[in-house]
Amino acid sequence: AGTGKFFVGGNWKCNGTKDSISKLVADLNSATLENDVDVVVAPPFIYIDQVKRSLVDRIEISAQNSWIGKGGAFTGEISAEQLIDIGCKWVIHGHSERRHIIGEDDQFIGKKAAYALSQNLKVIACIGEKLDEREAGKTFDVCFQQLKGFADNVSSWTNIVIAYEPVWAIGTGKVATPEQAQEVHAAVRDWLKKNVSAEVASETRIIYGGSVNGSNCADLAKKEDIDGFLVGGASLKGPEFAVIVNSAT
Ligand code: G3P
Repeated sequence: AGTGKFFVGGNWKCNGTKDSISKLVADLNSATLENDVDVVVAPPFIYIDQVKRSLVDRIEISAQNSWIGKGGAFTGEISAEQLIDIGCKWVIHGHSERRHIIGEDDQFIGKKAAYALSQNLKVIACIGEKLDEREAGKTFDVCFQQLKGFADNVSSWTNIVIAYEPVWAIGTGKVATPEQAQEVHAAVRDWLKKNVSAEVASETRIIYGGSVNGSNCADLAKKEDIDGFLVGGASLKGPEFAVIVNSAT
């Protein structure tokens, strides 16, 4: 941890029911969370309103996706304007599940991020290599190419948090070592310095995601360029998520 306020996001993905989410919200509402941490949770769209009405204001809400432009005749999509209307502050773009399962590409993702920013949503911009890409020595190339998709389209990085999520670490229980994560985070910062600006490089938070849990978070949080976490599975357990939120202090 070194840049800006520590940031911990919980990405609930396509999980939960009205009942399980009501229990999770109750656990989060009663958890003791350190003050000096931005805490955000990303429920499935259909539960955002339920969460917004019941969750303490101290935790902000993110969507897991938003449409590339203004709403209208786009069956099945949700617009950035609608997310703002319902009280969402953030949206996730570039998650590997959308890149590799749904097939979203770098420019499409960059454009969606830019439109969300234009409507005053903040963006959690995800990048990360697959196992075969890491083994082929292409980790930096892949991450830089994905970063370029954002950089080509956004005009300001003020409301962006970058999430480095190596695909081989997501949902696998195989967390990156603090050194592996730190190496990529430092490279991402260096890329921002060379390709965007020194200011953006020093002010943008770079968080890590991929099998973060209550036991491995403290060691990761000690690394200079790890400014927080994006948590999947462990964010569905309120008490464990609180441990991760508090891991930098
Ligand atoms: O966006 C968070 C994520 O992809 C990590 O998931 O379950 O490995 O913590 P998980």
